[in-house]
Amino acid sequence: MSNIKQRLKRTAMMAAAAFVIGGGIAYMQVNSETARVVEKPSTIEPMAGAAQVGGDFELVDHNGKTVTQADFSGAHKIIFFGFTYCPAVCPVELQKMAKVLDALDGTDIQPLFISVDPERDTVDVMKGYVEQFHPAIVGLTGNRAQVDAVMESYKVYATKIESEMMDGYMMDHSAFMYLMSPDDALITLYPTEDTAENIAEDIKNRLNAS
Ligand code: NI
Repeated sequence: MSNIKQRLKRTAMMAAAAFVIGGGIAYMQVNSETARVVEKPSTIEPMAGAAQVGGDFELVDHNGKTVTQADFSGAHKIIFFGFTYCPAVCPVELQKMAKVLDALDGTDIQPLFISVDPERDTVDVMKGYVEQFHPAIVGLTGNRAQVDAVMESYKVYATKIESEMMDGYMMDHSAFMYLMSPDDALITLYPTEDTAENIAEDIKNRLNAS
């Protein structure tokens, strides 16, 4: 019962996020179809409308190599968008991602951290940052156009907020963890309220069912 309540609450939160983000993300709407899919993680079926999320990209990894979506195809992926100056949410979510990876040790899953702040998140900055969290995490950045394109295809919201304390500005940004299939379709989103244990268990259930 509590599990169902938790998942319905998650669906409602996704709907709230959809309201903020706006534009064509039908899979986040609360309806019986979505609630049923979200409630039953044993299915590997992508969420309704998931084809609208994700897509090919060209970015630069934290070793300076140009990469595209194809470089990560064939494995499940967990993806988080953020920025290295983030004072709170990103460090917490990346620590959570590291815990999920440790809990899923031996699973073929590729973690990606994609910057929404490419002006400051250079290749070297990204390298130093992701290595603080987990050796498997690949940091991706690029030029402004490349980052804007990947943010648009993943429906990521991010905007600059002036902040003298944060070296001029910080980024207000959406903070979902994306679970993507080996063929690059969205399987589900995890809001910040989900714990590493919840996420790892959910991913295990989904992979065992597939
Ligand atoms: Ni952040």
